[in-house]
Amino acid sequence: MTDDELLARADEAAARAYAPYSGFRVGAALLARDGRVVGGVNVENAAYPLGTCAESGALAAAVTAGYRPGDLQAVAITASPCGGCRQRLHEFRVERVVYRRGDGSVVTLTPAELLPDTFAL
Ligand code: THU
Repeated sequence: MTDDELLARADEAAARAYAPYSGFRVGAALLARDGRVVGGVNVENAAYPLGTCAESGALAAAVTAGYRPGDLQAVAITASPCGGCRQRLHEFRVERVVYRRGDGSVVTLTPAELLPDTFAL
């Protein structure tokens, strides 16, 4: 699967996001080393802070499916990942992070480039 195809999967997921408050639908598609794709969307809540990011949902689904740090080769996201999700992607050692900026350009960076000097225990 190419990065473009993975981003297309993230776009498909974004259409299923639950974002009635912000109206900002986000989709994420994780590509595991075994070739499987796991999706996630943002899920908002009337109690605003309870809302969760698309990357967070995708990672939770991947962990539920049995994947662990090091098992994920790439993630495509329809928006620039927030600070917290950068830390999450770093934890799982996702190799490549492909995302679409607000201006429509698509960039590929590593978690370390996205979050230098990352917190670790
Ligand atoms: N959002 C994500 O899903 N991922 C990010 O990395 C950035 C922000 C969502 C959260 C919220 O539902 C909406 O975008 C607007 O902030």
